[in-house]
Amino acid sequence: MKVGCPKELLADEKRVAMTPDSARQLIKLGYECVVETGAGQDAGFADALYEEAGVTIAKTAASLWKQSDIVVKVRGVIKKEEKHLRADQTVISLFWPGQNADLLDSFKAAGANAIAMDMVPRISRAQKMDALSSMANIAGYRAVIEAGNQFGRFFTGQITAAGKVPPAKVLVIGAGVAGLAAIGTATSLGAIVRAFDVRPEVAEQIESMGADFLMLEFEEDGSGEGGYAKPASPEFIEKEMALFRQQAPEIDIVITTALIPGRPAPKLWPAEMVALMKPGSVVVDLAAEQGGNCDLTVPNQVMTSDNGVTIVGYTDFPSRMASQSSTLYATNIRHMLDDLTPEKDGQVTINMEDDVIRGATVVHAGEITYPPPAPKVQAIGKAPAPEKPPELTPEEKAAQEAAAHRKAGRQQIGLLVGGGLFMLLVGAYAPASFMQHFIVFALSCFVGFQVIWNVSHALHTPLMAVTNAISGIIILGALLQIGSSNGIVMILASISVLIATINIVGGFMVTRRMLAMFQKS
Ligand code: NAI
Repeated sequence: MKVGCPKELLADEKRVAMTPDSARQLIKLGYECVVETGAGQDAGFADALYEEAGVTIAKTAASLWKQSDIVVKVRGVIKKEEKHLRADQTVISLFWPGQNADLLDSFKAAGANAIAMDMVPRISRAQKMDALSSMANIAGYRAVIEAGNQFGRFFTGQITAAGKVPPAKVLVIGAGVAGLAAIGTATSLGAIVRAFDVRPEVAEQIESMGADFLMLEFEEDGSGEGGYAKPASPEFIEKEMALFRQQAPEIDIVITTALIPGRPAPKLWPAEMVALMKPGSVVVDLAAEQGGNCDLTVPNQVMTSDNGVTIVGYTDFPSRMASQSSTLYATNIRHMLDDLTPEKDGQVTINMEDDVIRGATVVHAGEITYPPPAPKVQAIGKAPAPEKPPELTPEEKAAQEAAAHRKAGRQQIGLLVGGGLFMLLVGAYAPASFMQHFIVFALSCFVGFQVIWNVSHALHTPLMAVTNAISGIIILGALLQIGSSNGIVMILASISVLIATINIVGGFMVTRRMLAMFQKS
């Protein structure tokens, strides 16, 4: 089959759905590839690069659509392109099926299949195809860079001969994919970063990226289905706003990414909040396309409030980094085609039993198959609710603990009696010199076990250092014995040297890897 990639027709869309690298992979899957001339130009991929990768260049969009069994795109199919659709053709693109019912009808009428990259469920297996996450990641990064472009100061604090510069304070609202990317970028530039999200499970991720999670004293879990949030209650939003009101006067840059899929963006940074900010501060509203998290946002524009706060409402952040976003998006598409080609023979099979393919397929064999059923697999980042043990009364608890103690005591006595009897039995037959060594050996095993078994996980690294030191002692002892005239002693000493060496070298390797985790490359 032939996979074709036309030039995007929407104004300012610079991305392309196939890159020379992704085409190489598709050719390996058994497909022929074709791109419309100039399709990758704005993303930095000239026709010649495609030709080098073995891709044919189509002179016009009409000829590309005509010869392609599968068409890959970025921004859905616009009105002008609908006439090209034909029966059994499969189009893979971002479709936003919830907002494009008419387009789904056109696919149904033409008998073409539509696979929506924005409908790929957020489950671990589908991460490689998750185009929304790839694009949101870029948007989060770029939001910080755009904020820096509008902000008149450094992100990082500095003490120079010319004076002291305080670090910028950045607040990120919504720590989904875009929010976390923004947190990572802003912390790496040296800013003080704070973040808030309705899903409490992201607190750890926020903190692991070097930002502070703003806590809200309110019992409500905002986690919804599919790794997304559910709408917060009005009481929660009120508390959230009170928290932001406290933050607004000291924050220099606000990046808002709060969104609940299929709903207009919640208004979390209204005009009163902007009025509380210092002149020169910046708000970047990533949710501009869904109505914006800020009242004053004008989609696709940068505007300045009466008190001198800049509000950025761009909706095309990924397109502003077209080369990077095309590379990631084309890879997502390539992975989708990989899953759609189980035999790796260049033939698409739309398997509606597969959770991921079912979720993404919005029109199939003349039927609109949107919305899909909920995926059976747990979404990423949402841990299953732990089963609560039944509540015990204090008397029941005390009785349970006493029973556990009694059981442990009985076990210990049993072990001691068993061990003693075993020693007596060995002592009855073995020579006295053997018994002396054997008792030392048995006692060291017992003491070693007791020392190591109760060490908490957090202390395993220092423990490893101690075992390495012990390995050193073992090697020393083994070296003294290795020259022995007794063959068995020599073999045992050699084995001791080998095993202790593995422990020492392994210890160094693990330590090296752990240290590397704390090093900035
Ligand atoms: P996501 O669903 O992963 O993250 C949204 C986050 O907002 C979630 O963590 C959710 O819990 C949180 N949230 C929802 N309601 C909230 C509330 N009341 N308070 C605090 N947090 C709340 O979405 P993703 O992929 O990170 O995208 C974020 C936004 O960026 C979306 O609006 C998306 O459309 C937009 N976007 C914009 C682009 C642009 O060029 N402007 C490009 C790509 C994405």
